[in-house]
Amino acid sequence: MRSVNFDGYRLEDGVLWLEGAQSQARLEAYAGGYWRLLVWHRSRDAGKGSWVVRRPEAVPIEAEPEAAGLRLRAGAAELHLRLAPFGLDWAGLALADLQVDELPTWTTDAAAVAEAVAGVGAVRETEDGHALGGGYALHLQERDGRRYFGLGERTGFLDKKGRRWLNWTADAFEQQPKDDPLYQAHPFLIAFDEGQARGLFLDESWKSAFDLAFREPGRSRIAVEGPTFDLWLVPGPEPAAVLERFTALVGRPGLPPLWALGYHQCRWSYPDEDSVREVVRKFERHEIPLSALWLDIDYMDGYKVFTFSPHRFPDPPRLVRELAEKGVRVVTIVDPGVKKEAGYSVYESGRKLDAFVKNRREEELVGEVWPKPAVWPDFSRPEVRRWWGEQHRPLVEAGVAGIWNDMNEPAAFAVEGDEVFGIGKTLPSDARHGERLHAEVHNLYGLLMSRATHEGLAHLREGRRPFVLTRSGFSGIQHYAWVWTGDNGSYWEHMAMSVPMLLNLGLSGVAFCGADIGGFRGDADGELLARWTWLGAFYPFMRNHSAKTSRRQEPWAFGEPWLGHVREAIRFRYRLLPYLYTLAEEAVRTGQPLMRPLFYHFPNDPEAAAVHDQFLLGPDLLAAPVLQPGARRRLVYLPEGGWRDFWTGAEQAGPAWVVAEAPLDRIPLWQRVGSALPLSVPEPPAQAHWDPLIWRVAPAAHVLGAAYLDEGEGDGAGLRVRLTGRYDGSRLLVTQEPVTDGRAWLELVGADEPRRASAPFEYEDGRFRVELQAGEAWVEW
Ligand code: GLC
Repeated sequence: MRSVNFDGYRLEDGVLWLEGAQSQARLEAYAGGYWRLLVWHRSRDAGKGSWVVRRPEAVPIEAEPEAAGLRLRAGAAELHLRLAPFGLDWAGLALADLQVDELPTWTTDAAAVAEAVAGVGAVRETEDGHALGGGYALHLQERDGRRYFGLGERTGFLDKKGRRWLNWTADAFEQQPKDDPLYQAHPFLIAFDEGQARGLFLDESWKSAFDLAFREPGRSRIAVEGPTFDLWLVPGPEPAAVLERFTALVGRPGLPPLWALGYHQCRWSYPDEDSVREVVRKFERHEIPLSALWLDIDYMDGYKVFTFSPHRFPDPPRLVRELAEKGVRVVTIVDPGVKKEAGYSVYESGRKLDAFVKNRREEELVGEVWPKPAVWPDFSRPEVRRWWGEQHRPLVEAGVAGIWNDMNEPAAFAVEGDEVFGIGKTLPSDARHGERLHAEVHNLYGLLMSRATHEGLAHLREGRRPFVLTRSGFSGIQHYAWVWTGDNGSYWEHMAMSVPMLLNLGLSGVAFCGADIGGFRGDADGELLARWTWLGAFYPFMRNHSAKTSRRQEPWAFGEPWLGHVREAIRFRYRLLPYLYTLAEEAVRTGQPLMRPLFYHFPNDPEAAAVHDQFLLGPDLLAAPVLQPGARRRLVYLPEGGWRDFWTGAEQAGPAWVVAEAPLDRIPLWQRVGSALPLSVPEPPAQAHWDPLIWRVAPAAHVLGAAYLDEGEGDGAGLRVRLTGRYDGSRLLVTQEPVTDGRAWLELVGADEPRRASAPFEYEDGRFRVELQAGEAWVEW
């Protein structure tokens, strides 16, 4: 690769243009403090679009020469630029050494592509670091103590430094700790030093890689195998500010239907109507709440998407109605592979539309996935997305409440009888999506499929909130779908790995995500299931799922005492719903994740930044899951401030490392002193109006909490209520505003027996409870 330098610059309409021999660049500034650097090859024009970015308002740049180059200002934002050698200094990050490799991996000329994609360059390299193909790379000077977060769904610990991460969505069946990439591609990085966070978003769908001080300890490298290099600089300095700005750019989720935050049960597969009824009956018999039952691939007729097997599911609307009467929704899987079969309406209508991906000879690309033979819709085209959305009609008419998109990396078991190219089995990089190569669209395939599904559901189920779960995705996926982390295993190691994996997904904008509880492959046991279900009660998405080849792991699978522990965990999830729903509404408004690493709220605590096996749910709950078999206590870090043991009410001041008791019937959990958590009774609610609404307060001089209330479905108005409180050492007074129709309770943790209260009260073992009257309650000691 050769270094890129620029000979000159000009400012035009507030944009800075840089001129070089083979490459040109443009620097733009936007309201909110963003900068965008776009570099492109001279053989291309400058008009690069984006699949995900909603551009903020442009801010004109002002340039002022300085010793080493230019000082650029746009509103309050500032950046220093050097022309030769090219470099940018921004928010304490030094970006330099821009390199280009001109092999035309991006051309649509078949022969050139065949040669070039065989050995791809900016991203994949030979052992000696020699580049083989085309694209751009930019380097980032390292600094001691810097940590890296984000990058979506990854194996490993929370801090991503010290490895190289590829963005190339893959069917990561049997994912191992060393494996990369997995199913999602998120070219978004948070660089974090000395309490300061800022984001780097590479808005490129082509294969890209982030080498984080791996090959060279002194510098990191961001590389893409495509004709342009489109990098957004997303300012902080707080982690929450980075997330707010990044999600403003790539999209935020919509408000989920309330039921989606409940407990979900899945299995590959519940093969027929009777097995579904049997499972739901057992939930009733064991008094375990259930929000949705999921149908995996065997509900279909011969793996033909949008069909039901007429033998095993003879009357889907009736089954769905029966379950609905018990408050249980049905979610069905839909894969992208369409069976190529004459007379099958989905295939026939797709062919008529010319909807399917082509091979390099411009013929329909035929391969195999669950259906054999299969073809793949080209979701990069809007008319294909509309057509796909419309195909959901029979499922929606049967009453299906949500759609599960799988195999959308896209995964292929075979393609045209050839060996399939690339890491993870997928379509060949030179397959065609209209004018585009699969190499350009590959990483977007899951996002675009989810978009088609989401928009289809929004249209077909007007007035109701679409619920889509996806395995594959790209930055911005949260706008269309929730994400689960694919095929993990029933191993303690995989349960442990789910924590940093979900935290980094959240730090990449994916607020709603979860891992298969109990593990997908392999055989769970009672203790693993109990511990994992307790952890899963804090995942934004809580679903137990397992593979055909593994033993059953529904809550009752291992008998007592495990059944009791699993039941308690699931019931606890329902108690948490008002808090989860309030955080969900915050995610919709500001892009904040629900599950947050400790450093998110304690950025200046270096100890907190190193913790990867604990997390915060919102700002007020700290969970420390037990991640080893046989463990009955564990070490926990409590950051600065006061914390109340959620179970005993004992107070602990942070920062401190404490040894927490961790019996099997609960998860070590703390509530932040001064918080008021909105909780509920442990049953599935009809609406998010909560009757009663239980404010669980950890008393302090000032108390603050919030709850978001609405119908839990549809697009009617919501209501944000606040609970404020003051405690003067002998009297605590709380006020809820506005006052709502249902009952509201004040519950105190770790309180002594009070002398008096505003109304008759209950007191037992440090737990105090009184009803709010006209939005107020007080307690005196
Ligand atoms: C894939 C999915 C898994 C699903 C299976 C069958 O492996 O990741 O969740 O159960 O396919 O559809």
